[in-house]
Amino acid sequence: MASDRTRVAAIRAMELEDVDAVMAIETAAQLTPWNGTHFCDCLGNANYLCQVATVDDVPAAFLILSRILDETHVLNIAVAPAWQRHGIARRLLQQALSAARADAMTVVYLEVRESNQSAQALYRQLGFEVCGVRKNYYRKGDGHENAVLMQCLLTSGHK
Ligand SMILES: CC(C)(COP(=O)(O)OP(=O)(O)OC[C@H]1O[C@@H](n2cnc3c(N)ncnc32)[C@H](O)[C@@H]1OP(=O)(O)O)[C@@H](O)C(=O)NCCC(=O)NCCS
Repeated sequence: MASDRTRVAAIRAMELEDVDAVMAIETAAQLTPWNGTHFCDCLGNANYLCQVATVDDVPAAFLILSRILDETHVLNIAVAPAWQRHGIARRLLQQALSAARADAMTVVYLEVRESNQSAQALYRQLGFEVCGVRKNYYRKGDGHENAVLMQCLLTSGHK
């Protein structure tokens, strides 16, 4: 029988028909989820790259990037709770980093909640390093939480 990892059949472009499935992942995984309009807007923007990773042809994760000149920004990434810790986010990001290098991009930026240690561990594993803090950037309960800014320099030799 195929292992869980080999059942991750494909990384492909997100389509409008995926938005319901992507919203289900977003709502289950994120503290302050985007709504459907956010995803539709991303799909309609030529500077954005929207991808899904499927398991048995069903979206299990997604990644949304914006690309401006030689900079890539990770705008959103989430994995369905049932498929977390199977290497799917690492695979999505590794592919995005390879594509960015191939397209002569020089840096990838992202923001992550200060409390989101699992995502920060993932990003560090892929060569991201902390480059700043945005105070009170995210909503959290009745208050706010800092964003940690991270960058991955594509010329630094990280794979
Ligand atoms: C963060 C998230 C995207 C990681 O996705 P994932 O597919 O489960 O991550 P991976 O299986 O590819 O893990 C890669 C590495 O990340 C780190 N990591 C991921 N989940 C972790 C956890 N729960 N605890 C500790 N480290 C974790 C580990 O270093 C892991 O490597 P390892 O399994 O070899 O130890 C996923 O947990 C998620 O969707 N979280 C909710 C949404 C979110 O936080 N998005 C990021 C916003 S900036």
